[in-house]
Amino acid sequence: MISHKKIEKNSILMLILVLIVVSIGGIVEIAPLFYLESTIEKVKGMRPYSPLELAGRDIYIREGCYNCHSQMVRPLRDEAERYGHYSLAAESMYDHPFQWGSKRTGPDLARVGGRYSDEWHVTHMKNPRDVVPESVMPGYPFLATTPLRVPDIRKTLEANRAVGVPYTDEMIENAVLDLRIQVNPDADEIDAFMERYPKAQVRDFDGNPAMLSELDAMIAYLQMLGTLVDFTSYDVDANKR
Ligand code: HEC
Repeated sequence: MISHKKIEKNSILMLILVLIVVSIGGIVEIAPLFYLESTIEKVKGMRPYSPLELAGRDIYIREGCYNCHSQMVRPLRDEAERYGHYSLAAESMYDHPFQWGSKRTGPDLARVGGRYSDEWHVTHMKNPRDVVPESVMPGYPFLATTPLRVPDIRKTLEANRAVGVPYTDEMIENAVLDLRIQVNPDADEIDAFMERYPKAQVRDFDGNPAMLSELDAMIAYLQMLGTLVDFTSYDVDANKR
């Protein structure tokens, strides 16, 4: 046995022993998170994003919306009262990269889906001050006039599958078609689409049926945020046990 006196007098030995003790503590705390089922609670309703939502999400990242908006409602009373149920880990399980964010110049967007009409979003994205006079958010009028780059979507789905999102071969096969179906309520293949992406909202989002624009994708994404998990069947206490 090394006597305590020896350890206290030898700083290198002390350092090595401290590192060993801290590593054991770290492993005990961190390692279980990788295999415990309860790290990501099982929730009903989460599904991979539809191609149009995913395209919108990519534009959200490209434009740096995360610089001013978070997508994580923290479990604090004032946040839950303003934004709704606090965010669950499962809600960002298909986000690569996640959009939790660390800055809130604007409000949290994790549950913005369904809070405003499409028309409100169209006006707001073009020039926020038309609906919120004191807003400091920049306008993104070019989204409405920029056609969405449709053929890219297949590769985007494949890339997401490569990092673990469970897109099936069928979803990837139909990616381009699904992108167009979601803005066309009259499409014949709508039932198959809804089966692939339950709860997906199908309509022309930007008010311009003549063009599939980047704004269509952005609004489809915003209107989906926070709407997938079914909180009526989510049992908070069951996940604490
Ligand atoms: C410079 C900071 C900034 C950037 C960048 C920014 N926003 Fe905002 N955003 C705000 C502010 C401030 C508000 C609150 C005032 C308003 O509604 O315009 C807001 C409000 C919003 C709202 C309404 C939220 C609510 O609950 O009322 C949405 C939706 C939104 N932004 C989407 C976006 C999207 C999408 C982008 C990227 C294309 C973006 N924002 C980029 C600052 C920003």
